[in-house]
Amino acid sequence: MDGNGRWAKQRQRPRTVGHRAGARAVNLCIEFCLNEGIETLTLFAFSSENWQRPKDEVGALLTLFLRALEREVDELHRRGVRLRFIGERERFPDVMRQRMSEAEQQTRANTTLNLCIAAGYGGRNDITQAMRKLAAQVAAGNLSADAITPSHINEALCLADLPDPDLFIRTGGDQRISNFLLWQLAYTELWFTPVLWPDIDASLLQQALADFAARERRFGLTSEQIAQGNHT
Ligand code: IPE
Ligand code: MG
Repeated sequence: MDGNGRWAKQRQRPRTVGHRAGARAVNLCIEFCLNEGIETLTLFAFSSENWQRPKDEVGALLTLFLRALEREVDELHRRGVRLRFIGERERFPDVMRQRMSEAEQQTRANTTLNLCIAAGYGGRNDITQAMRKLAAQVAAGNLSADAITPSHINEALCLADLPDPDLFIRTGGDQRISNFLLWQLAYTELWFTPVLWPDIDASLLQQALADFAARERRFGLTSEQIAQGNHT
């Protein structure tokens, strides 16, 4: 979700105004997924690197995040959304960690939409914590180093119970992954738009889905194999 700052700058307003507009776009995006029957949405709200932004911007983002939790969780629950948060929680204030756990507990049995919020998240951190888990198992003698497979790594990462993303959307014009779900994006279709995050609307998201639907996903195979449907 990129472009909040530039959106505000275009209007000669402080960056925090852009973040507030970005929060409204989050609601629109969730609404879109519910209407389209999309099963999982992972939003990159705040990266492990975003902690290094100016202190007042980080403070404003935390406040916005907390307010959104207080305002939206009951309604999301009513609509069958399962919420979870990925990323390092240690740096968040206690009250926020508390709210995040409560929201996860409250919505844990919901199945309409898996809504994952990446906050304080970094793909490299995620892979690092997974490696630590596996290394500890090896050190304890419960796993042999030679026996480690990609599925062991997958299991140790966040979102292990969810399928890999089909589609990645980045707004704001930059064409990079910026330490998002590095492992999980291996075969994800990437879609970039210059539209700034606060300016997204349903027709733009519809366009992303249409482009996605027109792509041939081969997963390393040939077109012929895909056409025959004899791959696993
Ligand atoms: C994305 O918008 C929101 C967060 C990273 C929290 P930016 O704040 O990165 O907006 P630009 O890139 O400065 O326009
Ligand atoms: Mg940015």
